[in-house]
Amino acid sequence: MIRRATTEDIDLIWHIADAAFGSSPWPKSVFEHDLASPRTAYFIGDGGFVGVTTILDEAEIVSVAVHPDYQKQGVAQNIFKHIFNMKQVTRFLLEVSAQNGGAQALYRKLGFTEYYRREKYYRNGDDAIMMEKKID
Ligand SMILES: CC(C)(COP(=O)(O)OP(=O)(O)OC[C@H]1O[C@@H](n2cnc3c(N)ncnc32)[C@H](O)[C@@H]1OP(=O)(O)O)[C@@H](O)C(=O)NCCC(=O)NCCS
Repeated sequence: MIRRATTEDIDLIWHIADAAFGSSPWPKSVFEHDLASPRTAYFIGDGGFVGVTTILDEAEIVSVAVHPDYQKQGVAQNIFKHIFNMKQVTRFLLEVSAQNGGAQALYRKLGFTEYYRREKYYRNGDDAIMMEKKID
């Protein structure tokens, strides 16, 4: 089951992000801010979450994480399919590290394509790949 997170899910989201990335790339305050924002929604399902900020007909995927115990079981894919049904959204956007082959494979499988590459975008010097998916 996939559900929209509330402010009470902050610890769950933090725990998943911490485990998925080894250490959460975002401070807890970012999740607190996002969960209180009317523009941003986090969707939770079976040990994973996807955060999405919507402005008019565009939605930006702001975070994606699945706890290692639940990875490679279709969790991220299922949450994305739920999100693709969001009304009024015609374009989804995200950025992913050029080094993150697993996440890129997920996004390509879901129909995202690369539209731009930001060189040395991340603090460690890695490039960012900007991806989009348009919905008719
Ligand atoms: C990337 C991540 C979110 C994928 O979540 P997941 O629930 O394991 O992904 P799914 O099981 O839904 O995978 C669906 C498809 O994505 C691709 N995929 C997912 N993880 C992959 C990996 N590690 N290597 C290669 N392909 C992968 C596959 O094509 C897979 O389809 P298949 O099972 O038919 O082969 C998860 O590995 C994760 O949290 N990683 C650490 C955090 C991270 O990198 N977040 C994204 C930052 S942009």
